[in-house]
Amino acid sequence: MVKAKTTAPPRPRNTEPIYAHIVGWGVGLPERTMTNDDLTAFVDTSDEWIKARTGIHERRIANSKETTATLGLKAAQAALNIADILPTDIDLIICATSSPEYIFPSTASVIQAWLGASNAGAFDLSAACSGFVYAVDMAAQSIRSGSITTAVVIGSETFSRVIDWTDRGTAILFGDGAGAVVLSASSIEGGVLSSVLRSDGSGAEMLGIPTVGSIDIADIPTIGVNEGHKMGKMHMNGGEVFKFAIRVIGESITQALDLAGLTVADLKLIVPHQANLRIIQAAARALKVDESLFMCNLDRFGNTSAASIPIALCEAVALGRVVPGDNIAFVGFGGGLTWASMIVQWSDPQSEDRSRLLTRQRREISYRVAWWRARLIRISRQIDDLVRRIRPQRGRMERLRRNMDRSDF
Ligand code: UT7
Repeated sequence: MVKAKTTAPPRPRNTEPIYAHIVGWGVGLPERTMTNDDLTAFVDTSDEWIKARTGIHERRIANSKETTATLGLKAAQAALNIADILPTDIDLIICATSSPEYIFPSTASVIQAWLGASNAGAFDLSAACSGFVYAVDMAAQSIRSGSITTAVVIGSETFSRVIDWTDRGTAILFGDGAGAVVLSASSIEGGVLSSVLRSDGSGAEMLGIPTVGSIDIADIPTIGVNEGHKMGKMHMNGGEVFKFAIRVIGESITQALDLAGLTVADLKLIVPHQANLRIIQAAARALKVDESLFMCNLDRFGNTSAASIPIALCEAVALGRVVPGDNIAFVGFGGGLTWASMIVQWSDPQSEDRSRLLTRQRREISYRVAWWRARLIRISRQIDDLVRRIRPQRGRMERLRRNMDRSDF
């Protein structure tokens, strides 16, 4: 008897709550580093100014072969290694990005094919620098509803390709990179405890990338070219975004803590979007906590938008600043305007050493198979196309020959 193929895991029949735990994490970083001094060669700025006003010393910049998808793939593969699962175990891939490869196909779909995650749905999520927190929340909600069991959430950006390098207000801030987490269903209490997602579209003109869309930006007085904003390039009202960020960080962390039934004293670490050291310092003052409660690595990576929280999270875990049982907070803020906070109880980490050799080898094989599969499908489509184009000609030739045979000469 042929068994019906089902794409969804069976829904739990009992009423036991399901928890969404982070069980894998990883980064994908460009190899090239650009220091503040390197920047001064083509931007009217100085190392002293950048360090003093932002805390940034250097950032990673993608080379011509590195893209939002290749960096995201690297991060996802590293996260799968820690989670010790196969790509075919993944039900859902969400890529939070504001610098996607294309409007569509989604960067998540490109990564899904490269991973060989043949049982996964995939989509991109656009919420600028809050995107990672939004995406983890979407994945966690899907897990808790029982509709999926495993999700990969990626934050990946190549902002170097959308920066207006003549604008020193933004050119000095951003860098490229990716971070990813694997979320998994569990009956053990913990994982994502609460989240607060917010948006205020009235601040749309403060931060954006006017690009291909359904409207002509020249027609919009506030975000049109009349304002000096360039098509396909990022623009930001730094001062206003700075004030907005300071206002929402403390507010939304407090709301997320309330929802989780916790207070700031219960937090082991806050992993904020890495925008500016002065924003983090002001947020610490607003929350009346020591600055050391905040994870900060923007000195080496700058602002990587949706990738900055998972990149900082991975470093915090590597440094032992987060251990199982710890309550931690994520907080993102940026274009939209959007902002989001989340409280997570850290789970038992599956260290790479415990990674079963067999699963590891199967993962490696599946990446290779996925690469060849995608290639072969593409080649077979090209052959199909060629044959389709040749066939009518052959038909015409045959008709011509038959007509000639029937004719008298
Ligand atoms: O990821 C999304 C969220 N983004 C953010 O949260 C970014 C928030 N904004 C910021 O981080 C800061 O507003 C910036 C870093 C963008 C700017 O810092 P600021 O302290 O707000 O500087 P400012 O724009 O008020 O400019 C102060 C001075 C000005 O000179 P005058 O008019 O005082 O003579 C600027 O022309 O600094 C000058 N300036 C610079 N000088 C050297 C502005 N940018 C630069 C620069 N290098 N790159």
